[in-house]
Amino acid sequence: MALYSEKVMEHFRNPRNVGVIDDANGIGEVGNAKCGDIMKMYLKIEDGIVKDVKFETFGCGSAIASSSMATELIKGKPVKEVKEITNKSVAEALDGLPAHKMHCSVLAEEAIAAALEDYEKRTGNKT
Ligand code: FES
Repeated sequence: MALYSEKVMEHFRNPRNVGVIDDANGIGEVGNAKCGDIMKMYLKIEDGIVKDVKFETFGCGSAIASSSMATELIKGKPVKEVKEITNKSVAEALDGLPAHKMHCSVLAEEAIAAALEDYEKRTGNKT
């Protein structure tokens, strides 16, 4: 079996929602101290819905694929559902990641959580 699924390769080669949202109301940046990879997630939340999401990831292919898939999973979703997304849901949506690359999907979960926390701080809204 190939090390990476077709979906991982596809999202790595053609990542969705890359970039910055200038008027984002929730921004989360996280990193992994061991590999040095960094992921930044921008959310635009309106009426409890993630209207837009973009990311910048300086990291490995699995981190890029995980960010891309995570944005696809949360775009247009109510914040309540977004909070339930875990690194496992991201990895499953990618048809799996090698064991030593699971931490890359953890960055996606953490970046979303950090962005939601930032949203709460900025707006005073509970998520
Ligand atoms: Fe660390 Fe992928 S190797 S995020």
